[in-house]
Amino acid sequence: MKNITLLTAAVFISLTITACGESDAPADRDRSEAPAQEQGLSEFEVEHGIGPVTERVEIGDGFDQAMVDKGRNIYEMKCEMCHNYEGRMVGPELGNVLERRSPEFVMNFILNPGGMARDHPVGQELLREYMTIMPFQNVKEDEARAIVEYLRYYAEHN
Ligand code: HEC
Repeated sequence: MKNITLLTAAVFISLTITACGESDAPADRDRSEAPAQEQGLSEFEVEHGIGPVTERVEIGDGFDQAMVDKGRNIYEMKCEMCHNYEGRMVGPELGNVLERRSPEFVMNFILNPGGMARDHPVGQELLREYMTIMPFQNVKEDEARAIVEYLRYYAEHN
């Protein structure tokens, strides 16, 4: 499993190199520096990201422990190799990600990382900074929700 993930990562990293080349084209550059609204994003997309999550998700006051455990497992298997809780690695730190992004934004980033890097101003900015497009990790929507639950739990308990 890990090997497959690493292979996917390698493939995507090489795709990134191609993608970076393309984004040097003047037309692309103009587009990525235009304000979000001019890029045709809805208000929801600007705030919560582009992807399959198009409505606010319900977040309880407490924690759903089964979801936390499921999220932790997936996170350790598919995310930890590139993300620290604190401090930059291949990608940004995630221990505090819910302080800067909404749950829906995080879910859309997990479910549509390529689209976020290409079409969302925050994704474009992160791509410029990290020079890697996060690979899609074959995570389903309920699994992305579970990862959010785990990251909420982590933030509260560390
Ligand atoms: C191969 C490395 C890699 C893997 C694996 C990976 N990411 Fe990422 N991630 C990145 C990079 C690089 C960025 C920033 C650049 C970009 O893609 O826009 C990023 C960005 C993010 C962001 C946006 C952070 C912000 O500040 O807005 C979130 C959220 C995120 N990743 C969550 C995850 C989760 C959850 C997983 C596991 C399902 C995961 N990532 C797996 C490399 C990775």
